[in-house]
Amino acid sequence: MSSVLTGITTNGPPHLGNYVGAMRPAIELSKKSKSFIFLADYHSLIKQQDPELTHQSTLSIAAAWIACGLDLENTIFYRQSSIPQIMELNWILTSITPKGLMNRAHAYKAIQDATNGKDKDKNVQMGLFNYPILMSSDILMFNADLIPVGSDQKQHIEMTRDIANKFNLTYGSFFNLPEPLIDKTTSYLPGLDGNKMSKSYSNYIDLFADEKKLKKQINQIKTDSLEPGEKKSQDSILYKYFKCFVGNNEIKKIDDYFNEGMGWGDLKKILFELINTELTPSREKYFDLINNPKKVEKILLEGESKAFEIASKNLRNIRSLVGIKTL
Ligand code: TRP
Repeated sequence: MSSVLTGITTNGPPHLGNYVGAMRPAIELSKKSKSFIFLADYHSLIKQQDPELTHQSTLSIAAAWIACGLDLENTIFYRQSSIPQIMELNWILTSITPKGLMNRAHAYKAIQDATNGKDKDKNVQMGLFNYPILMSSDILMFNADLIPVGSDQKQHIEMTRDIANKFNLTYGSFFNLPEPLIDKTTSYLPGLDGNKMSKSYSNYIDLFADEKKLKKQINQIKTDSLEPGEKKSQDSILYKYFKCFVGNNEIKKIDDYFNEGMGWGDLKKILFELINTELTPSREKYFDLINNPKKVEKILLEGESKAFEIASKNLRNIRSLVGIKTL
């Protein structure tokens, strides 16, 4: 049986991009497949160094997964940091990963390109450079097959396959080659400004703000200056939001509104209703969990004991393959 694995970095509150790209598809899959869902708290240290933020975000992202309906029967739900075997695998994989492969990572190249001046590595920590190896360790630790992610993560999954392949050729076949699961129409939600929605760019919409704040954030989605009555483009940022929140049957109606030239303000009101209707049932559960962290901790501890067991068994085999075993 194939297994599904995905994680979200805990460097801020859960946002709508996390929901659309990772949470919603993974929760659907968790109803029918064995799933590994985790909080990438060690990844978060690369992106920001605010301990309180990392801590709070771990709680809020965990609560969001549970509130949105993660199937806890089929799912092993855990913090990355509670499974130290992942860090050990990270070193084993680091030892065989070609530097040239990491040089090609989009996230690393983007920072280099944004740095004017001579020192291209000025804003690059080693953690960022090695980020794809830690992500590979997350996936390969559990030999997962299917990885639901937003399309921006595709390259990381390809790198995971390359690293797995390298290991298999070097030490003997052990790892599956995972596949990304990317729904092109519904898994990519841009940020307010049209760039990738990211906590690092402050262009995100909170997954669980109150209605007033959700309305306000939706109003901040960037639009052009076309007036009511003028035809709106399906290349617009707002249209991409609609694509993520209406089913195939209803998109026709939205297309008509865009073609007829409905004003941006009215389109945003419709979008707000759609998103709010989808999120309202989970919102209350979310706030209940946030106010009762012990409930979340208990659920995580249960998942972590299962994840620990699987990771220990796999790591024992991996260590043995590389020659680290009892004499
Ligand atoms: N890099 C992912 C993101 O920023 C988070 C992540 C870390 C992840 N490890 C993973 C996703 C393993 C899928 C599988 O969204």
